[in-house]
Amino acid sequence: METLIPIINRLQEVFLTVGAEIIQLPQIVVVGSQSSGKSSVLESLVGRDFLPRGSGIVTRRPLVLQLVNVPPLEERRKQDNGNGAQHNSQNNYPGIKAEEWGTFLHCKNQIFTDFSEIRKEIEEETDRSTNNKGISPEPIYLKIYSPNVLSLTLVDLPGITKVPVGDQPEDIETQVQEMILSYISNPNSLILCVSPANSDLATSDALKLAREVDPDGRRTLLVVSKLDLMDAGTDALEVLLGRIIPVRLGIIGVVNRSQHDLNIQKSLDDSCKDEQVFLQRHYPSLASRCGSRYLARTLSRLLMHHIRDCLPELKTRVTVLTAQYQSRLNSYGQPVEDHSATLLQIVTKFATDYCNTIEGTARHIQTSELCGGARICY
Ligand code: GDP
Ligand code: NA
Ligand code: MG
Repeated sequence: METLIPIINRLQEVFLTVGAEIIQLPQIVVVGSQSSGKSSVLESLVGRDFLPRGSGIVTRRPLVLQLVNVPPLEERRKQDNGNGAQHNSQNNYPGIKAEEWGTFLHCKNQIFTDFSEIRKEIEEETDRSTNNKGISPEPIYLKIYSPNVLSLTLVDLPGITKVPVGDQPEDIETQVQEMILSYISNPNSLILCVSPANSDLATSDALKLAREVDPDGRRTLLVVSKLDLMDAGTDALEVLLGRIIPVRLGIIGVVNRSQHDLNIQKSLDDSCKDEQVFLQRHYPSLASRCGSRYLARTLSRLLMHHIRDCLPELKTRVTVLTAQYQSRLNSYGQPVEDHSATLLQIVTKFATDYCNTIEGTARHIQTSELCGGARICY
């Protein structure tokens, strides 16, 4: 996702300048049965440890996670100093001395710079509105600000479950399904179905739900988790090759951290390395098309497609705007001095600069496309 960040930032700047709506990237929603590894997959996408995970029902309220791309701290500091107090500061986050931080809607003024505190707050806020394993459709809204993320929304959801436990209502299954449907029926969401390799894919409730709202599979991607937990003598090759159930946007196998790994606080980096070793050993022919990194790259590619689809409209807007400036300029009549000539130059430069940015981005996307996405380095 890293190479996408500067492109998106530049484009958002252009969008703002020409008064167009900011590009709305699709939101990514994870769907799967309880403990299939949804929270683990999301965490590996963000690259930070901060979501509650574990066996049993851990995620009991939707978590709407809004990632916000901000300039690096050093740059924000310079903007503050350079502009002084009297000018409009370019820095939208003055006074925040952290590179990355998080805030919750339910306690707006508190700034979390310690990611383990973020996890604790999600757990406590979950407990405040639910008790004894109950679930609630009331979302928790978390924003994470960082120079290392794409401005994108991810949604972590409670898992699909059949048998009520603790204080869960009799109709827990229907309640969770309705909650999931309310997120994935949004046509602007990408559905990340997470299904563990040690259970039968044909019974995957996640895929079944996804199909209800996305029958053509235009926005559904399948992640097969727990490749490391299959019975001796079995493997997921047929599933990963799409021979059991084909999934149009792709089927990607991953190995997340086990409960033991979580207990010993194994880092995401180490987990990613071990995942690669595992894939090379057990799925050598598919290793380059599996794993958390590949999943992130695939999502980048899908986001690129989305951006590419937004570009023609942006270009039209720039062209219209240029024409408007031009005619306004003409209406001022013949230039008395040379000032208008410079003004004209500025306007022209403005227009060509922006058209170049747009065309450059379109080219970049096409080149990446030709190389099958290989150019988009993670
Ligand atoms: P969720 O309930 O779907 O959000 O699942 P979690 O991400 O909370 O994971 C549930 C449990 O499964 C945790 O104990 C994880 O450590 C474990 N887990 C998740 N993915 C994998 C995996 O790929 N391999 C192994 N061995 N354990 C996993
Ligand atoms: Na779980
Ligand atoms: Mg979870």
